Amino acid sequence: MQNISAKDLIMPYFVIEGRNKKEPVANMPGIFRLTIDNLLEEISEAKRLGISRVLLFGACPRQYKNESASYAYAKNNIVPRAVAGLKRKIKGVSVITDVCLCAYTSHGHCGILNKKNKIDNRKTLEALSKIAFVHADSGADWVAPSAMAKKQVSAIRSALDKNGFSKVKIMGYSAKFASNFYGPFRDAVDSAPKFGNRKAYQLDYTDAKKALREIRDDIREGADMVMVKPALSYLDIIKEAKQKFNYPLAVYNVSGEFALVKMGANIGLWQEKEVVFEIITSLKRAGADYIITYHAKDIAQWIKQKNYLI
Ligand code: PBG
Repeated sequence: MQNISAKDLIMPYFVIEGRNKKEPVANMPGIFRLTIDNLLEEISEAKRLGISRVLLFGACPRQYKNESASYAYAKNNIVPRAVAGLKRKIKGVSVITDVCLCAYTSHGHCGILNKKNKIDNRKTLEALSKIAFVHADSGADWVAPSAMAKKQVSAIRSALDKNGFSKVKIMGYSAKFASNFYGPFRDAVDSAPKFGNRKAYQLDYTDAKKALREIRDDIREGADMVMVKPALSYLDIIKEAKQKFNYPLAVYNVSGEFALVKMGANIGLWQEKEVVFEIITSLKRAGADYIITYHAKDIAQWIKQKNYLI
């Protein structure tokens, strides 16, 4: 445990429209959908505890969703507004924004679909590039494309560079598996696909070689950091990626993994804090440089209070 620091952790947040709202996310005790005012308060508190990196997800009201995900790159989208507010009010926090379409498409898929309901990669890249631009323009330090569209990193890199945002970095969701562990997240941003599944674009968990190729490709395309997601069932991929590429590596301890810990603690199977430290230690041991986790703020608090056993 002694080698885990709040600096290694990235706390995800869900942002919603409106004022002074704090809506609990189903099956994720302690995690809320927050309006910008409450988000800023939460982040200042997290910062006091030592958290210096946050990852923002926007939740899109149903009536704004459409086939082209146009609200995703609208200037008045909740995410760029939140980023601008955050940058104005809180210094020293690095802001990463998720760049995807699934919360904004009427069908819930991560890309724009063609007439045969297959991903139209060209249109998807255009939309992702526009989102990345709007986020960068509002002050995001990092953009994190998570749509698993082919060449999404290079498309976004060139869009940012062309528009004077060469300093904005890219965290690629490089090895993102078609996983069963995303359920609570999809409830939080209402992004479950309305038909089919994401297996055509997210990775097959039986194919480790392909996952490593995706990571290699993201590095070649100009990602500043790569990611493996989810975390716990993919420790082998984390370890191999770190050994093979020795490149900045983030790992996403996802919503379903968080829910498992909480539910086990709730029924008395284990002590939450102990299990969390065991998990985070395993991720670091495997080779993660940064860990995106909904436990981040709690961990920072436990570290600060020296409230852990190891
Ligand atoms: C997709 C996306 C997903 C998550 C973040 N961005 C997964 C998905 O719905 O396919 C999951 C994060 C989590 O479960 O915590 N854009």
